[in-house]
Amino acid sequence: MATFSIATPFSILLTLFLATLLGVTKVEARSFFVFGDSLVDSGNNNYLATTARADSPPYGIDYPTRRATGRFSNGYNIPDLISQRIGQRESPLPYLSPQLNGQRLLVGANFASAGVGILNDTGVQFANIIRISQQLAYFQQYQQRVGALIGVEETRRLVSQALYLVTLGGNDFVNNYYLVPFSARSRQFALPDYVRYLISEYQKILLRVYETGARRVLVTGTGPLGCVPAELAMRSRNGECSAELQRAAALFNPQLTQMIQRLNSQVGSNVFIAANTELMNTDFITNPQAFGFVTSKVACCGQGPYNGLGLCTRLSNLCPNRDLYAFWDPFHPSEKANRIIVNQIFSGSVEYMNPMNLSTILTLDSQT
Ligand SMILES: *[C@@H]1O[C@H](CO)[C@@H](O)[C@H](O)[C@H]1NC(C)=O
Ligand SMILES: *[C@@H]1O[C@H](CO)[C@@H](O)[C@H](O)[C@H]1NC(C)=O
Repeated sequence: MATFSIATPFSILLTLFLATLLGVTKVEARSFFVFGDSLVDSGNNNYLATTARADSPPYGIDYPTRRATGRFSNGYNIPDLISQRIGQRESPLPYLSPQLNGQRLLVGANFASAGVGILNDTGVQFANIIRISQQLAYFQQYQQRVGALIGVEETRRLVSQALYLVTLGGNDFVNNYYLVPFSARSRQFALPDYVRYLISEYQKILLRVYETGARRVLVTGTGPLGCVPAELAMRSRNGECSAELQRAAALFNPQLTQMIQRLNSQVGSNVFIAANTELMNTDFITNPQAFGFVTSKVACCGQGPYNGLGLCTRLSNLCPNRDLYAFWDPFHPSEKANRIIVNQIFSGSVEYMNPMNLSTILTLDSQT
């Protein structure tokens, strides 16, 4: 079996000429693509008519520009910190950003949209959000745009050598199954059956990510859902984590890791990496002082018990030092907590990163 690549001197010259004309230089650090929900959305929802948004203060209060960018964080989010770890000079822009064109496309793109889940009916209350199938459709559109810029062959290489991050699942519980008592999904499924259904749908999504060309995909599960300030405010009497939501996370996350192991055997290589975000978060939630936090129960920005009710807005309570809080708002970790999570993604043991951490991936991939 042989593959031929015909590169005549003329076609090389033409490519160089076009590349110079279009201001395109060689791809430097590997590209990075992000799919998922608010934990990884870097601002797509700013461009949509939705209530799931983080584009006004105090969001972004510690971001370099001190502006709200649409990230659900006081500063950097998880994709920013991963992007920095793989040597990118700037984070991939939100796919809907008008600034995402020309050479910036080669950095990658962020397709994530706050409010989405594995299921299409998750997050319907947020109106216009980019559901995961649409995020994948945008990725195909992206590949066509980049193809027009650097050619089909070079695009295929960029896509297969890139790093991917997929973060889904939390909203399928908090913004679907447990959103209201007697939700449609909770009447349809007992929790263990719902979890099995989510895992089977998540598997289909991951296979589609693979089919679109991805070969290194970090996949996160949910955090300890019952311990976020929002759930403490709604469901807890004495500050203990909500048992029901903890049960959901405890069922979902191990099955996600198992599903990823099966997928890797199916495709015959370690394409997918399970990041145990439940354990990463549980570490600092159960022992906040050891990580330099004063609390893991009270959100920095919010109102009501644990600052866990409603949204983080200009009118909310706001803590003076965000680094002392594990949670920035009722649902999302602070930048400081995101750093702890990304440190584990980078160098965690197999309990945290299965089958391997990001530093090992970078070493392996630099050898091929
Ligand atoms: C979700 O919607 C997309 C697009 O309409 C569709 O292709 C997909 O099958 C749906 N997923 C499920 C689980 O129904
Ligand atoms: C990453 O994973 C490897 C292999 O599991 C392990 O040996 C190493 O200690 C971990 N951390 C770093 C920084 O490489």
